Amino acid sequence: MIDMSVNLGGLEMKSPVATASGTFGYGTEYIGAVDYAKLGAVTAKGIRVEPWPGNPMPRHAEVKGGLVNAIGLQGAGIDHFLKMTIPWYRKQVKDVPLIANIWGGSVDEYAEVASRLGSAADAIEMNVSCPNVKSGGHTFGQDPKVLAEVVSAVRKATKLPLIVKLAPNVPSIVPYVRACEDSGADALSLINTIPAMVIDIERRKPVIANKTGGLSGRCVHPAAVKIVYDASKATKLPILAMGGIYEAKDAIEFLLAGATAVAVGTATFSNPNVVAEVYDGIAAYCERQGFKSVREVTGALES
Ligand SMILES: Cc1cc2nc3c(=O)[nH]c(=O)nc-3n(C[C@H](O)[C@H](O)[C@H](O)COP(=O)(O)O)c2cc1C
Repeated sequence: MIDMSVNLGGLEMKSPVATASGTFGYGTEYIGAVDYAKLGAVTAKGIRVEPWPGNPMPRHAEVKGGLVNAIGLQGAGIDHFLKMTIPWYRKQVKDVPLIANIWGGSVDEYAEVASRLGSAADAIEMNVSCPNVKSGGHTFGQDPKVLAEVVSAVRKATKLPLIVKLAPNVPSIVPYVRACEDSGADALSLINTIPAMVIDIERRKPVIANKTGGLSGRCVHPAAVKIVYDASKATKLPILAMGGIYEAKDAIEFLLAGATAVAVGTATFSNPNVVAEVYDGIAAYCERQGFKSVREVTGALES
């Protein structure tokens, strides 16, 4: 038996496979379709203080090897999350920690969501990298000083394990990793979607109403592996890696590049069973390679 448990900055996970925010609803929508016993954590869709309508439709465009979306962080707000979503999740799902994904339009709003959340979730993932919301996380994730400010504010507002989800579209990830380390983050998550655009050439208009969106899926995977590798070389903070995981091999690449755990996103839309397949494939890889624990795979890259 392979030991598949990991610790992500204080968050105990019985499996290294989590779900990525925005691709698994609020954690209960997939009951019956997904083997929750193989799930290390569920990351909920992003929430801010107030309810938020998101962007106008259309908000998706399928592209070769991926998806461009501009949902725009639609959500019901922190009150609804606390009164309805979390109690419903706790009732339906046992033994799978819930990571709350939070965002805001200001440093104060991030801190307010974190503080109102209290200990209702098991960890916080801060989205500082969403490319879709003009007044939201975009700027926080693209200036190390502003990033440090917002991470420090959330750190003061919560005792939960604090995971910072970084923007991939920066020249070097290292200053952002350092800013998180210096501001009290417990872990990093990488990558969020990559800014992208799709044009309908006959209508001569962008396909998505918001004009631009974020690219995810198979096509982002090699870029994500490189960013995770760069980040892991620069820090001892554990990393939750995501971006184009469709099979175990993709997840194992992330682990070898230095990730402690992985999250499956867009692939879930076409194959809800992907979590179990990735879990089983990682365990089989450990057997094959002689690893007794999945933790031994982290960073086990030959030079
Ligand atoms: C439809 C959709 C909605 C998303 N919503 C969020 C969100 O609310 N907060 C967030 O931090 N990331 C969000 N993401 C980004 C994913 O969590 C993930 O970082 C990204 O899609 C890369 O992983 P993947 O290629 O496996 O999908 C969203 C992605 C998609 C496709």
